[in-house]
Amino acid sequence: MRKNRRTFAIISHPDAGKTTLTEKLLLYSGLIRTAGMVRARKGGKTASSDWMGMEQERGISISASAMQFPYKDWVINVLDTPGHQDFSEDTYRTLTAADSSIMVLDAGKGVETQTKKLFAVCKMRGIPILSFINKMDLPSKDILELLQEIEEVLGIHAIPLNWPIGSGREFKGVIDLRTREFIFFEKGALGGAERAKVVRVPYDEGISRLSDDEIKALEDGLLLLEGAGEQFEHEKFLKGEQTPVFFGSALTNFGVEPFYDAFVELAPPPRDSLVDTDGGGERVISVDDPMFSGFVFKIQANMNLKHRDSMAFLRVCSGVFNRDTPVFHHRLKKEIRLSRAYSMVAQDRDTVDLAYPGDIVGVSNPGLFSIGDTVSTSKGGFFFKPMPKFAPELVARVRPKDVMKLKAFEKGLAQLTEEGTIQLLNDGSSTYVAAVGRLQFDVLEYRLREEYGVLVELTILSYTHCAFLIGDASTFKKTQNSTLVKDRLGRTLVLFGGAWERRYSEEQNPNHRFEDFLA
Ligand code: G4P
Repeated sequence: MRKNRRTFAIISHPDAGKTTLTEKLLLYSGLIRTAGMVRARKGGKTASSDWMGMEQERGISISASAMQFPYKDWVINVLDTPGHQDFSEDTYRTLTAADSSIMVLDAGKGVETQTKKLFAVCKMRGIPILSFINKMDLPSKDILELLQEIEEVLGIHAIPLNWPIGSGREFKGVIDLRTREFIFFEKGALGGAERAKVVRVPYDEGISRLSDDEIKALEDGLLLLEGAGEQFEHEKFLKGEQTPVFFGSALTNFGVEPFYDAFVELAPPPRDSLVDTDGGGERVISVDDPMFSGFVFKIQANMNLKHRDSMAFLRVCSGVFNRDTPVFHHRLKKEIRLSRAYSMVAQDRDTVDLAYPGDIVGVSNPGLFSIGDTVSTSKGGFFFKPMPKFAPELVARVRPKDVMKLKAFEKGLAQLTEEGTIQLLNDGSSTYVAAVGRLQFDVLEYRLREEYGVLVELTILSYTHCAFLIGDASTFKKTQNSTLVKDRLGRTLVLFGGAWERRYSEEQNPNHRFEDFLA
């Protein structure tokens, strides 16, 4: 059951083509006959920094948290990692539920900032990464330079498994470097809305279809690639040392199917989990263990005030999830029933009776779950590894508009910090709220107003960079636009006025380390 499951997330900088590539997966799985609806839907999604807009879109955002569907012989679970204004700690945490990830890069832009951050999380968690260089139908950077950029900026060996035939308007398809087969594409009747027509021919015949200039460009590129010498090794990919690279155009479907076929073949099935035991040690829970176990990686607050509960998203790690079997909540040390369990099959929310390792189940959460909670059919004794903690990227000062509401305000802040909506930072005299994305502040304002009856004034401060400080805080040399603060657990963070300030602080404090997240 588990061997044919692939649970993954697609990571990219906004606009690189993640949504388009996801939709094409649905097209090639046969689930939709024509593509284009995701883009239409996205039109409305851009209003999502507006909380009310998000509420209207809620049906979509829930079903988009994780989608399950068959692709050929496999069962796919694709996790959504929202970009743009939706970007938040959730995005990072979602990666903890993935067995592999697909990194989409824009061929014209290469590695961009958001990709770097998401990539760093994958690396830290040891998640294997496949790379898809998208938008080959547009003018692209030099292919070898792109590969070098991945190697240098991300520190991973980039090994192409296919190679583009032409680029920009002349992009015709790809060569499968493992079989040396040419795969030519032709646009379908509706452009990229329908599957592209494919012609597969052996190398010699493929070459004979190209112009002299095209042959020269292709052979020069392949020669340089051979000179680089490194071969793809599946083991190295699984360890996160190599990323197989594929070229294509999600919009026109060129190269999409060969990519997904290689993805299901190469990406790992759900793996065993290393967990912490109550005694302070570690143990491995085999994915084949008959005991059901799983952890909560995401909580989605319910915006409907008539139903105050929220939804907790569980990743199944071992055994079989059965809706009718009571489970043990390890933190609360009590037996509970996971009633009202849902899985997202395609775009629809369906009641789920059974789920297997790698699957994502959404359960109704009447205040029982926090991020990172462990459940199983055992009597406890272990915990899945805690979620990594991320340094916030936005810091704000917040106060109630009406001082009479101070008590409710403080209660609300404490509650929302507990839930992981925001982080609280203190510099000894003032308290700041901090978040990874702007959306978290919108949620804070909305929930304080709706649930605690407090209107707040929120001023975003000019700190744009933040890092955990590792080392003796008393010997830290503060630069002009940096401030030391502590989080709820007493860990020290430094807030910086900008990227330059951070670099300067690092130079001034060679005996300290600065971390973007703590594992
Ligand atoms: P994202 O989820 O990573 O943010 O990216 P998304 O798929 O929304 O794509 C961003 C833009 O890039 C969209 O254009 C999309 O149509 C376009 N795009 C995606 N893949 C390709 C590709 O392979 N080739 C080309 N030429 N364009 C691609 P848009 O103008 O923002 O939206 P729309 O008006 O086309 O809907």
